Amino acid sequence: MCGIVGYLGPRSPLQILMEGLHRLEYRGYDSAGVALFHQGAIEVRRAQGKLSRLEDLLRGEAFDGRAGIGHTRWATHGRPSDDNAHPHKTGRIAVVHNGIIENYLPLKEELKAKGRVFTSGTDTEVIAHLIDEFLQQGVPFREAVKEALNKIRGSYALGILCEGEPQTVAAARKESPLVIGLGDGEFFIASDTPAVLNYTRDFIFLEDGDIAFITPQGPQLEDLSGRSLAREPQRIHWSPLMAERGGYKHFMLKEIHEQPAAVINTIRGRITEEEGEVILEDFPYQRKGLEEIKRVFLVACGTSWHAALVGAYLTERLSRIPAEVDIGSEFRYRDPLIDEGTLLVAISQSGETADTLAATREARRKGGKTLSICNVLGSSITRETEGVIYTHAGPEIGVASTKAFTSQMAALFLLALHLGRARKIITQEEMRGYIQGLVEIPGLMKRVLEGAGEIERLARKYVHFQDFLYLGRGVSYPIALEGALKLKEISYIHAEGYPAGEMKHGPIALIDEDMPVVVVAPKDHTYEKVLGNIEEVKARDGRIIALATDYDPMIAAKVDEVISVPTVHPLLSPFLTTLPLQLLAYYIADFRGTDIDQPRNLAKSVTVE
Ligand code: AGP
Repeated sequence: MCGIVGYLGPRSPLQILMEGLHRLEYRGYDSAGVALFHQGAIEVRRAQGKLSRLEDLLRGEAFDGRAGIGHTRWATHGRPSDDNAHPHKTGRIAVVHNGIIENYLPLKEELKAKGRVFTSGTDTEVIAHLIDEFLQQGVPFREAVKEALNKIRGSYALGILCEGEPQTVAAARKESPLVIGLGDGEFFIASDTPAVLNYTRDFIFLEDGDIAFITPQGPQLEDLSGRSLAREPQRIHWSPLMAERGGYKHFMLKEIHEQPAAVINTIRGRITEEEGEVILEDFPYQRKGLEEIKRVFLVACGTSWHAALVGAYLTERLSRIPAEVDIGSEFRYRDPLIDEGTLLVAISQSGETADTLAATREARRKGGKTLSICNVLGSSITRETEGVIYTHAGPEIGVASTKAFTSQMAALFLLALHLGRARKIITQEEMRGYIQGLVEIPGLMKRVLEGAGEIERLARKYVHFQDFLYLGRGVSYPIALEGALKLKEISYIHAEGYPAGEMKHGPIALIDEDMPVVVVAPKDHTYEKVLGNIEEVKARDGRIIALATDYDPMIAAKVDEVISVPTVHPLLSPFLTTLPLQLLAYYIADFRGTDIDQPRNLAKSVTVE
């Protein structure tokens, strides 16, 4: 999730671009760059790292052009570096991009065969070469843009400059957001309205497939076939801060609602529904290496450890490879039995968690295979493991992890399918079924999130309790743990997750009307047993909030509150049962007035042991 900004007008673009990039830093901050006209040519300045490095680079420079584009990067392809920073310029074209070009590799080979030289490892550079290639064939700029866009597959929000067209900024959008700001004789493009809200409150929200050519006369919109389009401007009434959060009160709430898109972006380009295949581009082990894997160790901390627990279920059920889970801070002290037959999967949103990094080093020291599942391209853990499966959740700003968690589960589901298929445990027909089930999940997640109002009302009733118990069995046990962690870390209420079957071995002594019990009870092979646990809690005057699948009269008759989620394959239920628990924690914390995005004593990444 990168940040794009652009300007065309009578003012000096540079100051407007830099201010816009600062307001978009929450969308990514690996590197930044700008492209501006000066004496008719496009000048590009780029720098890895924080925006301040780009500002140092630009100090004292002036550009006489009236058009410019800028970009702050959240790397998805090509590690953070000066060469991989946007804008990418080749020939007469400069491009900034947010999204993922799925077919960039074959296009890159095609262009190389025509003699084009690439200087970065990004998918974006292909777009610049494509447009410039058409220009060199004599195709006019606007046509060249359309021709290029018709050849690429994937998601994009683009800002484009062309030498020879100093009074034009081109923009295009497909699945990545892009808006056009309408000023008084000046125009803006941005990934998000906060970037330019100080200059205008009137915006055109581009839709998928829209292309805009902005000149001093204003934006002209077309679709990919060249048909003219008209889009009504809308007026934004948010403050810049509210706009950064997309109108949500906190980043955490925004990121909870971004989860369907995060899961889509994590599986994008990694499955073929017709063939029923999983393609993991950075998975290092092919035939021989795969056969050597006799055991999988999943290691992580916090919420990522909960994802690891889910991952163990998925791995064993789908690939029949024994899977074990450990907490990062425990793993290296148990002198773990690791050899070349062990695959250690280290899961980390930040890729900088010291304990998880230490576990990875221990596994490598003992000759194990290592793979990381991570949300930050080029982070430490991705450089210390032999392979990576990136989640594409975009920057997660809220300290409480939400969209990274469901994206990690998506990556783990893909890994388990990949291992199961390679070992011929899963037939092609079964693969198609699982992949179809996974593809339907984001839409069902969206449906669950539409019920947020219900959860808010429920939260209001439970905001004053001081202790909660969360219960679940099987693949719902890690979800019970995750629900408890979310509540405790943002509302400071004591909450404990427990295997439902363990309740009789101790926690049942705690049950009374002052301790609400949240029971994750989807209809799967553990359902009958969980019903029994619900009876045991009820018999001791416990208050029960049950998470059930579809309308479940059996449970509704026994508990105080029911939250329903759609019925899916049991191994996919965590994607849905997690969401109401995130929302319950969020609204209780919001009613208690805690600092939800930066809870006390917590850090987004625990880089010390
Ligand atoms: C989760 O909400 C917490 N912020 C925390 O437990 C976090 O999951 C843990 O510190 C691991 O972080 P990582 O995924 O970046 O390694």
